[in-house]
Amino acid sequence: MLADTNKAIPPRKEISLHHPASAAKLRRVSNEFYAPGDQRAAKVNDLFARIARRYDFLNDLQSFGLHRSWKRRVVQLAQIKTGDRALDLCCGTGDISFALAQRGAETTGLDFSAQMLEVAAQRHDNLKTKHLKFLQGDAQNLPFAENSFDIVTVGYGLRNLTSWERGVDEMFRVAKPGARLIVLDFGKPPNALWRAIYFTHLRLSVPLIGLLFCGNAQAYAYILESLKHYPAQLAVADKMRALNLKNVRVINLLGGAMAINYGEKAG
Ligand SMILES: C[S@@+](CC[C@H](N)C(=O)[O-])C[C@H]1O[C@@H](n2cnc3c(N)ncnc32)[C@H](O)[C@@H]1O
Repeated sequence: MLADTNKAIPPRKEISLHHPASAAKLRRVSNEFYAPGDQRAAKVNDLFARIARRYDFLNDLQSFGLHRSWKRRVVQLAQIKTGDRALDLCCGTGDISFALAQRGAETTGLDFSAQMLEVAAQRHDNLKTKHLKFLQGDAQNLPFAENSFDIVTVGYGLRNLTSWERGVDEMFRVAKPGARLIVLDFGKPPNALWRAIYFTHLRLSVPLIGLLFCGNAQAYAYILESLKHYPAQLAVADKMRALNLKNVRVINLLGGAMAINYGEKAG
């Protein structure tokens, strides 16, 4: 495995997915779960409704279980203190929400998918975690007052929003001064060779795993499609700096194939 890097933000540099000619060709390739603009949310909602029951199993399979350690890293970065209020956006089946609550944060997991929240609720019935509730809602239009949370996380969610910038704006708005904002998502590796290998994995192996174990290749081909339209870790860091967050950091995992963005709302 490539070493994690945890370093100061380099100057903003666009990383193209492929050679320009093939990138243009790829952008034309459609995916039934991706649509720009107003139709985006309905398509994403449909996707997660279809895969909700198999989501956790497939996550383990396609990441070789590594997503668990990346989520643990998110929770470490949250630096939970007694009495902290945490909001986990696009919580899905609740991995990060459960972990935040188990560490003592008064946690709300929010997602717009009824089917993903059903799985989260079943896990909640089994685990009986204290200090945790789940709520159906839109990450781009949060039902909370400003300055409400000490920790705001989003795992593999920002990339799925109609406007990821709007999602970060909402994270910022509901965060208290001093709050930690943490984003975990697929990234774009800076090394060209590694990037090519990684995108080939997303283009070929991941949809195949989706087909074999979930009966739906398109739902998993969507990961690469959504990543093409998401500017990933460097742009999220730019956005955090534009909001005047402090201690903005990019933590590249697996050579940037995954990334955590971290920042603190100024006090
Ligand atoms: C890839 S899953 C991530 C689930 C979980 N955070 C994890 O890391 O395993 C993305 C989640 O984002 C949710 N989502 C997408 N757009 C959303 C929106 N606008 N508001 C709330 N949730 C949204 C989906 O329903 C889905 O559960």
